[in-house]
Amino acid sequence: MNPPVKKADFLVIGGGVAGLRAAIELASSAGSKGSIIVLTKDKPTESSTEYAQGGIAVALSDEDEIGIHYEDTIKAGDGLCNEKAVKAMVEEGPQRILELISWGAEFDKDGSKLDFTREAAHSRNRVLHSHGDSTGREIERTLINKARTSPSITRYDFSFTLDLIMDVGRCAGARILRKRELVDIYAKAVVLATGGAGELFAGTTNPSIATADGMAIAYRAGALLTDMEFMQFHPTTLFYPTAPPFLLSEAMRGEGALLKNIDRERFMHNYHEMADLAPRDIVSRAIVSEMVKKGSRHVYLDISHLDGSFIRKRFPQIYKTCLNYNIDITKEMIPVIPAAHYIMGGVRTGLDGRTSIKGLFAAGEVACTGVQGANRLASNSLLEGIVFGARAGSAAFNYAGDISEAEERGACVSEGVQRQAPVSSIDAEKIRYSLRKVMSEKVGIIRCGESLKTAKEKLDEWSYLQDAYSIDRRNLELRNMITSARLIVGSAFLREGSIGAHYRSDFKERGSEWKRHTVCSRDGGIYWI
Ligand code: FAD
Ligand code: SIN
Repeated sequence: MNPPVKKADFLVIGGGVAGLRAAIELASSAGSKGSIIVLTKDKPTESSTEYAQGGIAVALSDEDEIGIHYEDTIKAGDGLCNEKAVKAMVEEGPQRILELISWGAEFDKDGSKLDFTREAAHSRNRVLHSHGDSTGREIERTLINKARTSPSITRYDFSFTLDLIMDVGRCAGARILRKRELVDIYAKAVVLATGGAGELFAGTTNPSIATADGMAIAYRAGALLTDMEFMQFHPTTLFYPTAPPFLLSEAMRGEGALLKNIDRERFMHNYHEMADLAPRDIVSRAIVSEMVKKGSRHVYLDISHLDGSFIRKRFPQIYKTCLNYNIDITKEMIPVIPAAHYIMGGVRTGLDGRTSIKGLFAAGEVACTGVQGANRLASNSLLEGIVFGARAGSAAFNYAGDISEAEERGACVSEGVQRQAPVSSIDAEKIRYSLRKVMSEKVGIIRCGESLKTAKEKLDEWSYLQDAYSIDRRNLELRNMITSARLIVGSAFLREGSIGAHYRSDFKERGSEWKRHTVCSRDGGIYWI
């Protein structure tokens, strides 16, 4: 029996910065005539956006220029950025931020002026922040409130997208799981904004929703993905065995915090001229190198030399959270380790979010416009989400105006496979645990052909689960995690060279193909373009 059907003009999958900004754009373009459904698989605020700490980069300060923001982004991207995408982001960024402020977003000020901080690899103070270290929460709050004012936007929370509905090569909607029932939602255009893939790794800064669903969903529907080997590891997360993953913002180093090894010695000046503010990939590898050299399980982040009242005011969440674990950051060093943080690759899109599938648009961390190259510059992803979310919304609106009534009929759900018997939930949890462990150990900050081969063999053992039937969210997530992990491993295997966040100990140089991009295709495998 086919699931019940719902219709909307537009379907936005994801309610973080990119999805909400796309929905707001659609609502303002469509006016009262268009209906927009926004799906989130959990409560509306459970997203990476909500947890973003450090801030949002934008060239708005007196000492900054759009051209310098452009240069810094290109440099951090290590030669693989799409220059046109970077240009669009840095040029449209200021306008998007001012718009956000006009919708009620409160960024911290120094007197009457916006206060800009510094983060790694930025050559200017250009990172806006809110309530010290709760920037993402403020942006999410503002966008949710703005979306609420639009009667054409309807939110479906706790609604898990299983797959896209395809109609002769065109995306015509999505099948979702809501209140344990399947529903098919048909729409003229779909915007995918499902966020990242951190949950594929045992140590991650990401919330547990970041299971790379969007990448797997798009792949199954036949969309092209690109640059999946580029996973950024954030250098500093709290090392405290019983604590849930917790990020220690790079803005702490921007304000003067220092990295020290287990012998309490500074080390970053031995690795890069920018020392503690070197690009993230370099800092993460330097930390691993110090841990190996000293046989330690972590290094330290030390901010205790700064004034205590400044620290408490500037980083209130971080101060409070660490205090819960008996670490007073105004007095003591904080044990830290790197963790999986952000995927630069994703669903391949043009500058307006168009994917290789008609009617399917993508924005935010799930997408790859090429703006982040091989290594994202800190605080550029909230900006990417807001700029390209708006662009994708606008392009989806224009696309829908061009499709004819005859084209508007639904056909089949792209998965077309779910044949295998369901896996028990205990087995699924065991596999999820093993997958995350294998990805961290074999596909982490430093990889090599041998480690990638081991990861591939393990993932192959579980590949039958990609076809398993289930209406359980955790099982469905596992299916997506296996698919996306295979794409990351396959792409990392293909790139026999080291660039940006992708470091191969068996190919330490860039390699002859370094300027090219890897592509994953359901029908064509993994190849170079
Ligand atoms: P998200 O904000 O992750 O939203 C994804 C949405 O998709 C959610 O609503 C989710 O429910 C929904 N979804 C996912 N799968 C499904 C499915 N199958 N069905 C239905 N819905 C689904 N970047 C910065 O620029 N500055 C920072 O300071 C910063 N700090 C960070 C701190 C942390 C701890 C983390 C984790 C990330 C940080 N980042 C930062 C990165 C940045 O937050 C993310 O890249 C960005 O917020 C991603 O936005 P998004 O809209 O693409 O996805
Ligand atoms: C942080 O606050 O360190 C995270 C910033 C980012 O990922 O852009």
